[in-house]
Amino acid sequence: MRCTVFGTGYLGTTHAICMAELGHHVLGVDTDPGKITKLSSGQLPFYEPDLEPLLRRNLAVGRLHFTTSYPDAAQFADLHILTVGTPSAADGHTADLTDLYAVANQLAALIERPAVILGKSTVPAGTAARLAAHLREQSPTCDFELAWNPEFLREGHALQDALRPDRIVLGVDMERTLGRSRAEQQARHLYADQLKAGVPLVVTNLETAELAKMAANAYLATKISFINAISDLCEGVGADVRALADILGHDPRIGRFGLDAGIGFGGGCLPKDLRALAKQAGELGAVDAAMLLREVEQINLHRRVRVVDLARQACGGSLRAAHVAVLGAAFKAESDDVRDSPALHVSAAIQQHGAFVTVYDPKALDNARQSYPTLTFATTITHACENADVVLVLTEWEQFAALNPDELTRLVRNRSIIDGRSSLDSTRWREAGWAYRAPGIPKTC
Ligand code: UGA
Repeated sequence: MRCTVFGTGYLGTTHAICMAELGHHVLGVDTDPGKITKLSSGQLPFYEPDLEPLLRRNLAVGRLHFTTSYPDAAQFADLHILTVGTPSAADGHTADLTDLYAVANQLAALIERPAVILGKSTVPAGTAARLAAHLREQSPTCDFELAWNPEFLREGHALQDALRPDRIVLGVDMERTLGRSRAEQQARHLYADQLKAGVPLVVTNLETAELAKMAANAYLATKISFINAISDLCEGVGADVRALADILGHDPRIGRFGLDAGIGFGGGCLPKDLRALAKQAGELGAVDAAMLLREVEQINLHRRVRVVDLARQACGGSLRAAHVAVLGAAFKAESDDVRDSPALHVSAAIQQHGAFVTVYDPKALDNARQSYPTLTFATTITHACENADVVLVLTEWEQFAALNPDELTRLVRNRSIIDGRSSLDSTRWREAGWAYRAPGIPKTC
């Protein structure tokens, strides 16, 4: 089938490529001509493992195209997927829906045949119903059904998550469609391969679909803050948070994901969605939810302070004039995304304490330079670690876990390492004579 994807950011690009890979004819739309030119020539504007070859393949076979033209897009298909960003507004809490409204308005004004508009962006519950009412008022002749189909893909695993999701969620306007939703029919075609492969489809009302996405991210955030809070207890009693996480994770009711303790969560999704949900909960008088979610955020921010403290202790009580090597700038491994990156936040805080901080990351250096121009960046691990008083591992890249402590020994001034991701082999580092510290890992583990 044919569909358009409006907004070629991370979500939109991945989704457009994956829908083409499933055999659909897809037109990606964006107002940024630079992005469109890049994508049309087979280059991704961000790093995501294994995605670029699929972009090229689908461009080559003619199933995937990109354009800046809204009129062309409105003509191209009768299924329009909205994947525009919904960042935090200036208050830092509310979701900014400006782009979503702008795109939907322009599209609705151009639609000439009955169409389905499928929202994928993460939005506060109630957004779709309000947007649909607004579009009906703005474009009274436009015959459309608006449904919501939130996306659960993770950066660094986007292909696998988009092609074989754990579930597909579709929110429809139950009252208007009365069990005959055009959007549901179209979604069943769009995702036919996945449904055939047994991926569960949950059809529900608009608000449930919107809230389910926010709640899923808030739950993951809560789980990460939970293990981080417990990691303090581990240190207090002499327990090892890594083994503890494995023990919890073996319980299928709990599951292992989200139980890696350390510097906490970041990125363009978990922190902003958590804040937006807390804000909405506060507005609705859902006081328990508001309290819980705010606490989850506070615990998360406190992890960053804790790692700065560990660095200070490692430098004998003061960071002034210390040489600090930071390995990792991306908010997580297998990504070049530095939005709300705990690694960079900690680096900047350490610099503010008077240290000389040098940051290395295998993929995110360009983005990091743009966001934190006052930090110093190194293009190799060796350069970052030369004469370091302490080395901090703040993104869980596999190449950091594979580092040989003996090789690093030659470079540094002090054999002191802080593992902000509990991703290194502590025994190996300690046996090589390093002072290894990590939240939740006592000196004896
Ligand atoms: C998250 C969700 O996992 C996706 O399901 C969702 O679709 C996406 O947000 C979104 O809303 O678009 P993502 O931000 O790519 O995906 O990253 P996660 O893998 O969830 O990790 C988030 C943060 O938590 C990272 O900073 C990561 O390093 C940290 N984390 C993760 C931990 O500190 N500990 C863990 O055990 C797991």
